[in-house]
Amino acid sequence: MQPIKIIKTVKEMTAWSNEIRSKNKTIGFVPTMGFFHEGHLSLMQEAKKKTDFVVVSVFVNPLQFGTGEDFDAYPTNIEKDLALAQNEGVNIFFNPNKSELYFKGFQTTVSLSDLPNHLCGLSRPTHFKGVTTVVTKLFNIVKPHIAVFGEKDYQQLAIIRQMVLDLNFDIEIIGHPTIREHDGLAMSSRNTNLSPLNRQSASCLSNALLKSEELIKKGEKNSKKIIENAKKFIHSYDGANVDYIIVCDPVTLEDIIEIKTKVLMAMAVKFDNTRLIDNRILIP
Ligand code: PAJ
Repeated sequence: MQPIKIIKTVKEMTAWSNEIRSKNKTIGFVPTMGFFHEGHLSLMQEAKKKTDFVVVSVFVNPLQFGTGEDFDAYPTNIEKDLALAQNEGVNIFFNPNKSELYFKGFQTTVSLSDLPNHLCGLSRPTHFKGVTTVVTKLFNIVKPHIAVFGEKDYQQLAIIRQMVLDLNFDIEIIGHPTIREHDGLAMSSRNTNLSPLNRQSASCLSNALLKSEELIKKGEKNSKKIIENAKKFIHSYDGANVDYIIVCDPVTLEDIIEIKTKVLMAMAVKFDNTRLIDNRILIP
């Protein structure tokens, strides 16, 4: 296996991609904020299967954190990430610093008009503008043929797909299923910030989704009842505070009142300062 190469500058990253493209080889890209877990690694494996070369970026993007959010507490471990990426056969570890991407005088952002106004966007109003801006920059720098994103961040994936369509990016976006801990908790870099007690409670998100699925399969069509049920269930766990629970259209993310066809159920739950999200497609 070739040793992984660390790239810190935009210039070197783009030069590498231009060279690969000039040889008619394909580039798969996995953008991340680091502190890898099995979820991140599964995206790298997917990219590896589909392309000749894989680039992983690690950049904790300040633009997608609102004031009072956990930017300063966001966990990092570059050495470990590097070893894990090397182990997956990743070719390039793109790890720019903040001033490389947001240089003095930087003033352009990318935002969507509708999709960010739902789910997480309601409590994090500037978050998705930060995501779409950094992902646009990374796409232009890395010039991938495909990019892989996790379905755990369902709204983020939907927004990236829409942005790629709207702005004519010549990049195939691939969604990858959520990887979970043994108790069902969706893997997340933020899980490490949970106290032991909160970690135990945190399985309530995935359990609530499974319980809701059961209800729908039994014939319940009223999304209000399903949401109320899930709220009650989650609040029966120590330390859990529901931010939102929503049943919505999987494409438009608009609320659905009467469940007739497949819906997305999505939620965010806070444990002290740690906010966890999860979602599931539910089919009646
Ligand atoms: P980050 O939270 O590091 O996630 C990077 C990628 O890993 C995202 O596509 C996310 O959906 C995926 N992912 C996270 N947990 C997962 C899990 N349990 N199973 C499968 N995939 C999982 O998402 C971001 O970073 C940032 O917003 C980013 C897109 C990099 C822009 O800054």
